[in-house]
Amino acid sequence: MSKKINTKLSKLIKYYNLINYNLVFNNKEIIRYKKKELASESTIEKSLNNLSQEISEIRGCKLKDNASKQVFSDGNSKSKIMIIGEGPGANEDKEGLPFVGRAGQLLDKMLDAINLNRSNVYITNVVNYRPPENRKPTDVEVKRYLPFLKKHISIIRPKIILLLGSTAMNAILENSDVISKMRGKWHEVIIEKSKIFTIVSFHPAYLLRQPDQKKFSWEDLKKIRDKIKNLNIKIEKN
Ligand code: URA
Repeated sequence: MSKKINTKLSKLIKYYNLINYNLVFNNKEIIRYKKKELASESTIEKSLNNLSQEISEIRGCKLKDNASKQVFSDGNSKSKIMIIGEGPGANEDKEGLPFVGRAGQLLDKMLDAINLNRSNVYITNVVNYRPPENRKPTDVEVKRYLPFLKKHISIIRPKIILLLGSTAMNAILENSDVISKMRGKWHEVIIEKSKIFTIVSFHPAYLLRQPDQKKFSWEDLKKIRDKIKNLNIKIEKN
């Protein structure tokens, strides 16, 4: 091959490399590329364990000092659907898992109504320790836990987030709106450069107190079902 053609060819290869065009020609590169894009399960699990450890090292927090256990999460860490509640109650504090009490049972029913369950969604709370007497977490407490929650979201990398109740809504959407005004609308939230479709709905504990509001909750759930379809999100069946 002449020197001229060689130079041209090497420039072309350089260019293809720059635009990742070599992926088309090289199987191995495609695999390597995918590996970089999708964090492997063990990487996710490791990051989650590290995050849980970081949370356990929080100092000077009344919630943590009064709680018996950290309530980190439940569900499938590979899920593209993340659900965020407020904070653990007495049952959750005892079991170390979110949404295991009456509100949790209702949440399970709500998920089931749109063919979801705990094995194909990922569930956590704004705060990871039970507020005494089931009070709402204070603004200071929410502020303290928010960086951990954002880190949690960036590890899971969901495509959809369901915010249950005003504490989760105010924390993630950084607003002080009332839930009745905000529920059922999609918001695009950017966390770590990823766009996440986020919707607010009533907290199941509220629905237990106000069952006539369930009709609105059902409207919101249907929107999530449609969004899963539109975004072509694969739901693992079990
Ligand atoms: N309410 C919440 O917000 N989270 C739980 O885990 C349980 C009840």
